[in-house]
Amino acid sequence: MKLRHTAMTVSLMLACAGQAQAQAAQDSLFQALGNEPGISQIVDEMLALVLQDERIKASFKETNMPRLAKLLKEQFCVISGGPCQYTGDDMKLVHENLGINAAQFYALAEDLQIAMDKLDIASSTQNKLMAKLAPMKKDIVSPKPKPP
Ligand code: HEM
Repeated sequence: MKLRHTAMTVSLMLACAGQAQAQAAQDSLFQALGNEPGISQIVDEMLALVLQDERIKASFKETNMPRLAKLLKEQFCVISGGPCQYTGDDMKLVHENLGINAAQFYALAEDLQIAMDKLDIASSTQNKLMAKLAPMKKDIVSPKPKPP
């Protein structure tokens, strides 16, 4: 009886350790970005650069920037494996009528990288975040208008 009990305790402990390991793997990008305070700094720094960036700043002249900052922080938290909820709209829905081209997409990505450099985020961590964002390009960049 005692032996069975011990075996059960051991297998429970192993199961918990496995779960904790899976959780840690998922959380590692979130943690490498500095958890919510780190992500908050990254987004604030990125948006400051975006608003000075001649290539893209005009796109944001009617945007509620505090709201955009809040939603980007939620989104970066979620995609890096953090314990957050994204409360904004779908990427395609939000961007499809903005006429954004590929060069503008890369301009924003560059501003994000400069922001992360300034905040001393390791390049391997930067690359992981960029890899999570890259697949969104197809929803953000408007298709080229067809020639007449
Ligand atoms: C990986 C790249 C990008 C990500 C992850 C991203 C993410 C977001 C998010 C989360 C929102 C808020 C959604 C909502 O309002 O519910 C948003 C809104 C917006 N984005 Fe992006 N975006 C990206 C690229 C761009 C680019 C390249 C531009 C323009 C140059 C742009 C222009 C805007 C504008 C103007 C809004 C506000 C729209 C509104 O207020 O109705 N985004 N974006």
